[in-house]
Amino acid sequence: MTQPPATTTQTGAPVGSDEHSLTVGPDGPTVLHDRYLVEKLAQFNRERIPERIVHAKGGGAFGEFVVTADVSAYTRAAVFQPGTTTEMLARFSSVAGEQGSPDTWRDVRGFALKFYTTEGNLDIVGNNTPVFFIRDAIKFPDFIHSQKRLPDSGLRNADMQWDFWTLSPESAHQVTYLMGDRGLPRSWRQMNGYGSHTYQWINAAGERFWVKYHFIARQGTEELDEAAAEAIAGANADYYRQDLFDAIAHGDFPVWDVKVQIMPYAEALTYRFNPFDLTKVWPHSDYPLIDVGHFTLDRNPLNFFAEIEQAAFSPSNLVPGTDISPDKMLMARVFSYPDAQRYRVGTNYNQIPVNAPHAAAVHSYTQDGAQAHYYDSPTKPVYAPNSFGGPVADAAAAGEGGWAADGELQRAAATLHAEDDDFGQAGSLYRDVFSPESKARFIATLTGQGRALTVPGIKARFIDYWTKVDADLGATLAAALA
Ligand code: HEM
Repeated sequence: MTQPPATTTQTGAPVGSDEHSLTVGPDGPTVLHDRYLVEKLAQFNRERIPERIVHAKGGGAFGEFVVTADVSAYTRAAVFQPGTTTEMLARFSSVAGEQGSPDTWRDVRGFALKFYTTEGNLDIVGNNTPVFFIRDAIKFPDFIHSQKRLPDSGLRNADMQWDFWTLSPESAHQVTYLMGDRGLPRSWRQMNGYGSHTYQWINAAGERFWVKYHFIARQGTEELDEAAAEAIAGANADYYRQDLFDAIAHGDFPVWDVKVQIMPYAEALTYRFNPFDLTKVWPHSDYPLIDVGHFTLDRNPLNFFAEIEQAAFSPSNLVPGTDISPDKMLMARVFSYPDAQRYRVGTNYNQIPVNAPHAAAVHSYTQDGAQAHYYDSPTKPVYAPNSFGGPVADAAAAGEGGWAADGELQRAAATLHAEDDDFGQAGSLYRDVFSPESKARFIATLTGQGRALTVPGIKARFIDYWTKVDADLGATLAAALA
């Protein structure tokens, strides 16, 4: 056996012991100049960074995205051109629970993807559901507060969860998903992912399209029932994290097919409901799924902290040929994530290897800040414009999209389209998509949720909310909770 290397300080000098502090005699006081002891304890006190404010509990893996179809008519992005393969990272997560929370608590699951493309990083930060609870970002902190913990007891609380939801009827579609089977996947490998928002694609001719991303698990989808999920939560809080890591370690690599729905730019104006409303899906009958390719996760992290905890996904990480849309949630997310990451990871979080682009060079006029590691050639000017050959911004290379917008500044709901409402798609999901067994589980879950409510007004609104989703469902719940 080869001799293991000598332990060193963080600056590389060999140390004398990992067993004994430096003391005055064997029983005397510990000396402050035991620099190795001080380094160990001080570093230990700084090991944790703040957990993500949402999606704190998760896990991830690296892989490769391959484009097998031709969607070049819709986007010029290099990552989506036929035959292209791109290195990537995926992180899956729960939304409300903290770092150590059990994976199998009922929740929406995060589905975050980072593609290290030749034109910079493209992130698609989605969920395992195609819609969301709210349609205006100004409600996001209130929504999350209602799902997290009470200020005094530090407990989660059904009354505040349902108070928020029933006072926010736009939540009905997503709450139907959450209380249905989708709220309890069997594993991260066995769930589909969705970009959820409407994004924008721009082709080589500059034509714009609205696009929704779908990631369909080749493993198939499977769910847990409530009893199994509860038992697992007690037995193995890291059930999903372990499942993904073990599967990849054993060579059982999960694969997702990548598909998109495409809406021509002009159709958004007159489509029967607002296509930028994050509480709605686009029916496949109107906009069928179009094949793009698939991605495979085949490499576990070598260091969870460095590569998964410090991973910083953001909807603002876009590449030429891709952009956002006038979705009021998405526009705010573009601000929110880098802001969170400057705080959570540090100003120069994009210089950390997991976040830095792989195949694209960085030529930026931003500089310095805590923990700056990367620097450009000293001959590169530090300001723009300059007359010394520094990088020059190029609107054509940026390949950005955009949309027509004009009007007075105001705080208002988005313009309603003919079929815009809060409950219609939730009702169809329950009536037309859920199997009879799913419906039975859904009703049992809602009955349990209803029984946990202690404030009469909220209980009454709970019945009313589900009656608006489906009258029979409301009547069934009213009878069960009488
Ligand atoms: C306006 C609404 C939203 C705001 C303000 C918001 C904000 C945030 C913030 C601050 C983080 C933590 C980022 C970090 O520390 O690295 C986060 C994480 C995340 N969010 Fe959102 N979010 C919103 C809506 C959504 C929606 C609609 C989705 C899915 C479609 C989503 C999916 C995720 C995922 C998957 C993560 C975890 C990313 C990872 O694995 O690191 N969020 N969100």
